[in-house]
Amino acid sequence: MVQIWMCILRPRVWDDQKHQSIMMSFHQKFIVLNNGNKIPAIAIIGTGTRWFKNVETDATFSNSLVEQIMYALELPGIVHIDAAEIYRTYPEVGKALSLTKKPRDEIFLTDKYSTQIKVSDSPAAGLEVSLKKMGTDYVDLYLLHSPFVSKEANGFTLEEAWKDMEQLYKAGKAKNIGVSNFAVKDLEKILKIAEVKPQVNQIEFSPFLQNQTPGIYKFCQDNNILLEAYSPLAPLQKKTAQDDSKPFFEYVKELSEKYFKSEAQIILRWVSKRGVLPVTTSSKPQRISDAQNLFSFDLTDEEVDEITELGLAHEPLRLYWNEVYDKYNYAAQKV
Ligand SMILES: NC(=O)c1ccc[n+]([C@@H]2O[C@H](COP(=O)([O-])OP(=O)(O)OC[C@H]3O[C@@H](n4cnc5c(N)ncnc54)[C@H](OP(=O)(O)O)[C@@H]3O)[C@@H](O)[C@H]2O)c1
Repeated sequence: MVQIWMCILRPRVWDDQKHQSIMMSFHQKFIVLNNGNKIPAIAIIGTGTRWFKNVETDATFSNSLVEQIMYALELPGIVHIDAAEIYRTYPEVGKALSLTKKPRDEIFLTDKYSTQIKVSDSPAAGLEVSLKKMGTDYVDLYLLHSPFVSKEANGFTLEEAWKDMEQLYKAGKAKNIGVSNFAVKDLEKILKIAEVKPQVNQIEFSPFLQNQTPGIYKFCQDNNILLEAYSPLAPLQKKTAQDDSKPFFEYVKELSEKYFKSEAQIILRWVSKRGVLPVTTSSKPQRISDAQNLFSFDLTDEEVDEITELGLAHEPLRLYWNEVYDKYNYAAQKV
């Protein structure tokens, strides 16, 4: 099992009242990866989804994203940012990193190599460009964005891509390495040839999709590979007026009132209690600071189980990789 560490950070001086309130109750939590390194237990500023761009030009540069990353970097503790080659948001991440006063070792930066759509020739070539664009010497975590790799499309196999990742790890350019959207069979391929086991598998995970692909939750737990959950708030993102009557939403609302926390915080805390690291994002500063301060409250085991059960009773909701993974929708709701 992945170990979890919690510490209360010593308050630093802030001149902004908004920050003072979060400082009073701030707890940061870390997870120990299978190589002994620590990772902050939530990524609060994903730069894909709502920030994703098809092209990276001066005209598409997003000042809002820079402001939002800057806001996140003013929060206490180590701030976990999620980036990727395919999001075309390195310029914004680079700008924020160049402006922030937060030391580099208080920033946890995840990056992903695009396997599914070719942007650069190899993980090593991709990382060289991304480090330059983000103005840093290393990333804290580098992932293969998907298992959809072939000699014909990419010029290398999945196994060769992993060997390239291992070289980046050994060279210290990626402090940790992992994968994303991998099914059990994809991980088995890597584990057969790996000198360095993947530390992380980032998948879609929410109460309404508890196994992106069959058996993946249990497999990663059994093999000490940390699962990260992207789109953890899918139920809220897609909530409709009719959903209000459903038992799941009623229960989340009840917990939100019990703990004086937002419904989003209740769901993110549930993800975390399932041993999974939530990767979220928002255009609203309050939601970013709520996420960074997720560990200021807890859910009981019974509450976690109840959310799990009510989520499983809901029909599956998958937002990404539908063309390849929709076939698993019903199997995917079995834990
Ligand atoms: N590896 C992959 O293939 C992959 C795929 C998808 C995503 N990702 C990564 O994961 C990150 C997060 O994904 P995500 O954006 O889907 O995460 P999410 O946490 O499920 O959703 C965030 C979205 O939910 C909205 N939201 C927050 N609180 C809400 C509430 N109470 N009610 C309704 N909506 C609410 C936010 O809107 P506001 O802006 O209005 O707050 C925001 O747009 C991405 O940015 C990316 O870095 C990775």
